[in-house]
Amino acid sequence: MKVFDQGKGPAVLLIHAFPLNRTMWEPQFTGLIPHFRVIAPDIRGFGESQPPSPWTMEEIADDLNDLLNRLGIESCAVAGVSMGGYIALPFLSRYPQRIRQLVLANTRARADNEKEKAARNEMIAAIQQNGTAILPDRMLPRLLKPNSPEGVVTVVRKMIEEVNPWAAIHGVIAMRDRFDFSSAVHRINCPTMVVTGEEDAIIRAEDSRALADSIPRSQFVQVPHSGHLSNLENPGEFNRALLEFLRR
Ligand code: MLT
Repeated sequence: MKVFDQGKGPAVLLIHAFPLNRTMWEPQFTGLIPHFRVIAPDIRGFGESQPPSPWTMEEIADDLNDLLNRLGIESCAVAGVSMGGYIALPFLSRYPQRIRQLVLANTRARADNEKEKAARNEMIAAIQQNGTAILPDRMLPRLLKPNSPEGVVTVVRKMIEEVNPWAAIHGVIAMRDRFDFSSAVHRINCPTMVVTGEEDAIIRAEDSRALADSIPRSQFVQVPHSGHLSNLENPGEFNRALLEFLRR
């Protein structure tokens, strides 16, 4: 597992979205490193964590637990964007003592519904048939708000273009088959921040607000002028909220 690890102080573990890699957190590295030890892995098959192999959200939670053992970190704050949140929930469920604070950004606790599962199957078939060349046109309008800054579009497009086709397929399967945590989130007992993007096309702001309402010690933050990748589209606001939350 390829890992970014820099800075000193309390550890913050950043879990990336699909089909991206650890570099999606670059705007947060700058904001967090003066205060925290920042850990950002490439999930199996993504970025430089090669080769790809099939995985479940629970197996990635185990990978992260092993990673913290290896790095000598007992507990940390965990922040996941989208698929990163799908991983953070089983990580919390399996290793609650590891998590001091939780950030669930642009993500949801429930599993895919039948329509979403069918869309995942269609995506798998499309990648099998045509490779990952189909991904940028499909993913960019979902991940980014209309008229997202050109620099952000370029960076995200590059990450999508570089994804390994098998990593993409294994990721879609893992998301399709993930467990439903919606009836468990009321038991989360660490301080939690739920973040949404004002223009998130994948997870609606009101669904994120409902998620925050169902977690006892939570706060809700809506990042203005951002779509699904709120940390990249409005890093100023995202970092401000993140730092304020983490430094409490
Ligand atoms: C992500 O941004 O991690 C994924 O696109 C989320 C999803 O497809 O459910």
